[in-house]
Amino acid sequence: LRHLLSLDGLSSDLIIDILDTAEQHDKLLAGPEKKLGTLSGRTVINLFFEPSTRTRTTFELAAKRLSADVLNLQVAASSTSKGETLFDTLKTLEAMQADMFVIRHESSGAAHFFAEHAAPGVAILNAGDGRHAHPTQGLLDLFTIRRYKSLPGEATRDCFSRLSVAIVGDVLHSRVARSGIHGLRILGCQDIRVVAPPTLVPVGIKEMGVSVHHDLEAGLDGVDVVMLLRLQKERMLGAFLPSLGEFHRDYGLTRARLAKLKPEAIVMHPGPINRGVEIEGDVAYGPRSLILQQVSHGIAIRMAVMSLILGRDNGERR
Ligand code: CP
Repeated sequence: LRHLLSLDGLSSDLIIDILDTAEQHDKLLAGPEKKLGTLSGRTVINLFFEPSTRTRTTFELAAKRLSADVLNLQVAASSTSKGETLFDTLKTLEAMQADMFVIRHESSGAAHFFAEHAAPGVAILNAGDGRHAHPTQGLLDLFTIRRYKSLPGEATRDCFSRLSVAIVGDVLHSRVARSGIHGLRILGCQDIRVVAPPTLVPVGIKEMGVSVHHDLEAGLDGVDVVMLLRLQKERMLGAFLPSLGEFHRDYGLTRARLAKLKPEAIVMHPGPINRGVEIEGDVAYGPRSLILQQVSHGIAIRMAVMSLILGRDNGERR
């Protein structure tokens, strides 16, 4: 693995390897000594052109746990605000001997652009590009599902083929949904349902191997995992169809709707949540919710990805 731009095209063996490596890191993080020397002497630069709480901080923490030197470019205060291009920004930071860039950008394809122009030995990790992909979110979601839905004694890749997963909400704007669908499909999940109003379903989504439901009750019938998505108001230019109130009425996960799910069904959300829109606050922090576990797993997953790409065992990169 040279870069991580998307889960699309990765092998199931590689994804399982990342999840298994993350399990080891997660065990380490639960103990008193949380640090490894894997990336000692390496430099990781976080370049976030869009806001982030979870992804940016867990990438930073993961890199620090691996002993890398970490820089966070303050994009608003950087020379990009004076018109410096992405290419020139990349080349300038490469000149400081950066080994890895973690990039979030509003444009789909921005991480691919960086990967295309990165110097040999420099790795690019996509931390979310437009509506396209959010691969480490997809991986941490797979990690969470496997951890909570595997049966005792089951092989580490076997749970996905027997699970039904509903992805509910603003699929149209969601890079999380795309990465989740790719990851679930690669690991053998047969029943992936997209549940959303017609206005929030992208054209051609069925070609990704999912079924589409516009009725929430039917879409959630018998599912093992409910993955809620945030209504991405910032990408809707003020036009909400349906309105936030209508969306909550027809698709919001309330306590009453939660009670109708299978008792062992789990609730996930990548965050940040719109309280009272796609999920009630009580449900978000209730016993069936794994939202905060997803955040914690993000550290182990990002450690795994960075160490597999840049770790000492991966050979000399410079
Ligand atoms: N899930 C996610 O990408 O959250 P942030 O935008 O806070 O990073």
